[in-house]
Amino acid sequence: MDTNKLEQIAKLLVAPGKGILAADESLSTIEKRFILLGIENTEENRRVYRQMLFTTPAIEEYISGVILFEETLYQTLHGAEGEKTILFPDFLIGRKIIPGIKVDQGLQDFEGSEVEKITKGIETLQERLIDYAKSGAKFTKWRAVFTIKDEAMPTDACILENAKLLAKYALFAQEVGLVPIVEPEVLVEGSHTIDKCKEVTERVLKVVFEELKEKEIYFPGMILKPNMILPGKDCIDQSNSKEVAEKTLEVLERCVPDEVAGIVFLSGGQSDEDATLNLNEIVKLAQKSGKNLWPITFSYGRDLQDSPIKVWQGKEENILLARSEFYKKAKENSLASQGKYLN
Ligand code: 13P
Repeated sequence: MDTNKLEQIAKLLVAPGKGILAADESLSTIEKRFILLGIENTEENRRVYRQMLFTTPAIEEYISGVILFEETLYQTLHGAEGEKTILFPDFLIGRKIIPGIKVDQGLQDFEGSEVEKITKGIETLQERLIDYAKSGAKFTKWRAVFTIKDEAMPTDACILENAKLLAKYALFAQEVGLVPIVEPEVLVEGSHTIDKCKEVTERVLKVVFEELKEKEIYFPGMILKPNMILPGKDCIDQSNSKEVAEKTLEVLERCVPDEVAGIVFLSGGQSDEDATLNLNEIVKLAQKSGKNLWPITFSYGRDLQDSPIKVWQGKEENILLARSEFYKKAKENSLASQGKYLN
């Protein structure tokens, strides 16, 4: 295992003032985003949309890496008529943006449950990783989800099964020189309180790190992508950023070893303003603690894309405006990752 290479890539991904764009929506997820705007979910429309994001001028100031969906890894950037085409990973590398790829294959019901899910794709993973690395990917992401429902869910069995898959994935990725982003997401759907989310996230992270240790994952070459500690979407008691920051940092400090290369949050259905404000508060609190904690930044999908996609609406004439909206969102989150947003 090339630990130096893993560590170097992981460090670049969480470099100061930078974060990751998650542009790895599956075919069905991007369809949900497109339908709302009346955009047809064709391969070409997905390519044009992603090209619009990747070609936004100067985003490399704020974006260290992009998580691609498998289809995008093999698509090309189309320039003006007669210009040479270039594969997206090569184009990104040329801009000093690191290409990565989502390597899980979505979710399936866990042991007949209609609520609990485990992540698919482990059987074919080792083979696929070799192809992804050949195609220019430098890092990977695997997402597991946990639903809070009554006192019963998530079950210990579902947590353990997903944690084992995350650890196996991280090992396979590191073995071929790809940095793993380990993403255990406690979902925001539901009416649970913020304290319930805190308790469940802590339970999940403890088991995930036990399994990662068991597989001897090289932590300086691995990144954690957790949820923030938030009340459920339908909880009547919503929290302010300060409370979110305190509880999030408390859980992470209890569960995440110091050697882990960095923490990159998912936005997980928060409004884009909330995801940025909450990141800013978490970073400010970490700075105030005076402790030497891991780098903390963003790996946002919806937060970075919600407004640019609405401006774009699938129309060529809106591309310039949509790009400036994306640049603005990337800059705001860069500031938040330094605790400097709206200060
Ligand atoms: P969101 O920021 O939209 O939650 O997406 C991040 C992600 O990569 C989910 O897997």
